[in-house]
Amino acid sequence: MGLLGRDIFGLIFLVIVFAFTRTGEAQSRSFLINCGTNSSITLSGRKWVGDLATNNNLTLSSSGIAASTSTLSDDSTYGPLYKTARVFTNGFNYTFQGIKGNYFVRLHFSPFSFDNYNVNESSFGVVANGLKLLSEFSVHGEISDKNAYLQSSGSNSSSSLIKEYILAINLDLLVIEFIPAKGSFGCINAIEIVPVGRYTLCRTS
Ligand SMILES: *[C@@H]1O[C@H](CO)[C@@H](O)[C@H](O)[C@H]1NC(C)=O
Ligand SMILES: *[C@@H]1O[C@H](CO)[C@@H](O)[C@H](O)[C@H]1NC(C)=O
Ligand SMILES: *[C@@H]1O[C@H](CO)[C@@H](O)[C@H](O)[C@H]1NC(C)=O
Ligand SMILES: *[C@@H]1O[C@H](CO)[C@@H](O)[C@H](O)[C@H]1NC(C)=O
Ligand SMILES: *[C@@H]1O[C@H](CO)[C@@H](O)[C@H](O)[C@H]1NC(C)=O
Repeated sequence: MGLLGRDIFGLIFLVIVFAFTRTGEAQSRSFLINCGTNSSITLSGRKWVGDLATNNNLTLSSSGIAASTSTLSDDSTYGPLYKTARVFTNGFNYTFQGIKGNYFVRLHFSPFSFDNYNVNESSFGVVANGLKLLSEFSVHGEISDKNAYLQSSGSNSSSSLIKEYILAINLDLLVIEFIPAKGSFGCINAIEIVPVGRYTLCRTS
């Protein structure tokens, strides 16, 4: 009985190892990025690395503006992550290296006003490896629309937004390009890039 148990355990162990190695080194990597800061934050056991932290296979095209707020967003899960953002008035690129395969790319927005940047006036486009994801995007406008819907269905309103995409990346490189509308600016609170597949299904189950 004991022997049989060990054998079954051993078999399961081998199957799992095989599944992980088969997906390949590059494909199994995730990027959890905390924008607008050099410090990392751990939420529900997942570490979000500051976008200014060095040596993380991520490069920023310029320093942009690191914005922060002392007000905690009402979003309980991601609240601490949403206290910082990167704000940019010109084209701004995040370049991720060593990334190949199919990925969920989630852009997290939880706008707050900072200095003279009124979040209600922000408008920008987002392009990933040449593919247009968003154009003339207003975070404020979309959150208002979302809240109108939430209120009509009797739910609490929200101050944040996650835009999710599935991207097939075959360059070993992902460039996420933010392009503010003329005279406007863009902002981003966090970027989450996780492989589509077994690992993701295990994590969310
Ligand atoms: C992080 O940023 C703060 C403020 O900009 C700076 O004082 C600190 O030295 C930085 N830390 C690291 C590890 O780069
Ligand atoms: C961002 O990357 C795109 C594509 O590689 C490039 O055309 C553009 O000039 C870059 N923008 C900046 C601000 O570096
Ligand atoms: C950066 O990418 C290389 C090649 O994909 C990888 O071997 C290395 O572990 C990565 N470094 C970090 C800090 O993720
Ligand atoms: C943005 O608009 C909302 C209402 O849509 C308003 O409550 C808020 O005060 C505005 N924020 C700023 C900084 O103007
Ligand atoms: C709405 O917010 C209130 C107060 O924060 C909370 O008690 C309630 O559980 C929330 N309802 C839903 C459906 O999330």
